[in-house]
Amino acid sequence: MTAPTATDPPTLQAQAQEPVEGNYFVAAYPPFSAWELSQVPSLHEALAEFALATPLGLYIHPPFCQKKCDYCYYLSYIAQPGAVVDRYLDAVAREMALYSEHPGVMGRSVSFAYFGGGTPSTLSSAQARRLGDGLRRALSWDNIEEVTYECAPRSVRREFLETLRAMGVTRVSMGVQSFDNELLRLNGRVHLAEDVSRAYSLIRDVDFGCVNLDLMCGLMGETEEKWIESVHRVIELGPDSVTIYQTEIPHNTQLYRDLKSGVLPAAPISWEIKRARLDTGFRELERAGYTVVSAYNAVKDLRHHRFLYQDCLWRGADMLGLGVASFGYFGGVHFQNEVTLEKYEAAVERGELPTKRAFKLSPHDQMVREFVLQLKLGAVPVAPFRDRLGVDIAREFAEPLRECVLDGWLTVSDEAVRLTPRGLLRVDRLLPRFYDSAFRDVRYN
Ligand SMILES: C[S@@+](CC[C@H](N)C(=O)[O-])C[C@H]1O[C@@H](n2cnc3c(N)ncnc32)[C@H](O)[C@@H]1O
Ligand code: SF4
Repeated sequence: MTAPTATDPPTLQAQAQEPVEGNYFVAAYPPFSAWELSQVPSLHEALAEFALATPLGLYIHPPFCQKKCDYCYYLSYIAQPGAVVDRYLDAVAREMALYSEHPGVMGRSVSFAYFGGGTPSTLSSAQARRLGDGLRRALSWDNIEEVTYECAPRSVRREFLETLRAMGVTRVSMGVQSFDNELLRLNGRVHLAEDVSRAYSLIRDVDFGCVNLDLMCGLMGETEEKWIESVHRVIELGPDSVTIYQTEIPHNTQLYRDLKSGVLPAAPISWEIKRARLDTGFRELERAGYTVVSAYNAVKDLRHHRFLYQDCLWRGADMLGLGVASFGYFGGVHFQNEVTLEKYEAAVERGELPTKRAFKLSPHDQMVREFVLQLKLGAVPVAPFRDRLGVDIAREFAEPLRECVLDGWLTVSDEAVRLTPRGLLRVDRLLPRFYDSAFRDVRYN
């Protein structure tokens, strides 16, 4: 895939339709607003079936951070006492054990695991081991192929990284966001650029198979110059992969509240400009030898690159979401856990799965889900849909594909539906066009 080279011409109409606030990233289909408590029994039915030969993954959510970033919409608790964290980690291990009693999970081995935040690196080494050991007691990790662990720069310590290595972590992903200290401060980030350099060299000293760094374009106060400087600083470090997110201003963030109360020191950046910055970032990474592999990701060495969590999940694998507010997908059922610590821990304590809402996908929904998620990779090959699901995607999505071709967002051939460079920069905006009409009027949470 080539990097994007052009951005959309700004029009007043487009700006009016694209308010700066709200979510952009599509994480699931059908959207979260369609998931309901009344559908939770369908998860239990799926768990009661012996599993098909599909990979099984885990998403594990340690929801603790040193400080809340202004733009952050994830559930996180700040600076909790050790006893609170320990109790939570035991609840997660108990939740894993509850799953392992179901025929659909029993005896399976875990193919991939993702520790995502919050900030999983705020745990102590003893707590990380306690979590890892607790999870392993319930299911075998002997054949695991990828274990990702998210870190934030200030909480990275050498002995902690060595603990992660001993736990079998193969991929470390660190949230950098920017190398400009003024921008980091303005957006409520706890770390400084010097923390990134220190943490990165510690991570490199310990031998992880893959190191990913996250950047955010369009942070409050960002200029073109500051953005390019951050991209260059990341390139100098030379991580195996770089993820660039376009900054969202979701409604549950401090940034959104500040926007509404008019106290922001700078105007939020438009989506036009964020796309242009993403485009510049991708092109700089390509000039440095990276290859763009999705709407968010560039990798240094395509031959050795795999991101199993994403590849499996976006192609229909099972994944148990463990921990408060976590999302999972199992046997064609989406589900989310209780969203407060109290409710989550109380359910697990009672010996019940802590599921808050679910959605059972029909075979047609599952096909649409795979198509929209794979579009984020820039191209969806026709053959697997035809051979595995008996679906001709060109015919199935004829109308939205025609519209997108006319708008210049993608091309359709006998081999693949392929986004144009301009289409890739805005792919999450295009996805609802492919949704069933019942889900098109999307709310994200
Ligand atoms: C759970 S955080 C990663 C680990 C750690 N908590 C951190 O922030 O460094 C996942 C990533 O989501 C991205 N992110 C968070 N809030 C965002 C927002 N409002 N818009 C775009 N990306 C966001 C950041 O790049 C962040 O690194
Ligand atoms: S962006 Fe990361 S560090 Fe910041 S509050 Fe959210 S989860 Fe915590």
